Amino acid sequence: MINLAILISGRGSNMEAILRAVKKKKMPVRPVIVIANKSDAKGLQIAKKLGVKTAIVESVGLKGRSWEYDKKLSAVLEENNVTPKNGLICLAGFMRIMSPEFIKRYKGRIINIHPAILPSFPGLHSQRQAVDHGVKYSGCTVHFVDEGVDTGPIILQAIVKVKDDDTEESLSKRILKQEHRIYPKAVRLFAEGKIKVKGRKTIIS
Ligand code: GAR
Repeated sequence: MINLAILISGRGSNMEAILRAVKKKKMPVRPVIVIANKSDAKGLQIAKKLGVKTAIVESVGLKGRSWEYDKKLSAVLEENNVTPKNGLICLAGFMRIMSPEFIKRYKGRIINIHPAILPSFPGLHSQRQAVDHGVKYSGCTVHFVDEGVDTGPIILQAIVKVKDDDTEESLSKRILKQEHRIYPKAVRLFAEGKIKVKGRKTIIS
């Protein structure tokens, strides 16, 4: 059994997709805690409704990587028995970059969803970047988190066709649908021990 923590900053729709899938599909996953870095993150209410414990570790005024901040996160995780041995930490719209210390501590146990086909359009506003660049296809990526920004080994990707008249909003909406499909799938693969990392690659059995 994996102890799952989900980290959010806002809406929490990926968090909701994961929590619902864990319940419905009987994965070997125990959703232990949802942590937000903002007290007004909408997803906190959704987590409560779904019966999952929530916590706020405020990051106001703290920009960039911060081990000071991540130490507080670590403390909340360990208090709730999400450890480097039994834990999985899902970043779901968590708009902070983790410090190298935190990544080292939870090595291979932090995953993220990104709304583009990495390595294209990392960082912020990926859907806008895709529309502005004129790509014909975009999509989303679930990947392990390493010390870079959106650079870790890729677990799953889904492709979305970009229409001629797409806006950032319309493309984001269609990508989000795919995010909700592949993120729970990646959680299941991880929990069932089906993902092996070999250098930059993951091998899914
Ligand atoms: C999602 O589209 C996710 O891919 C994106 O933020 C949104 C969060 O939505 N994450 C990033 O851009 C990370 N670089 P949600 O709160 O409804 O899951």
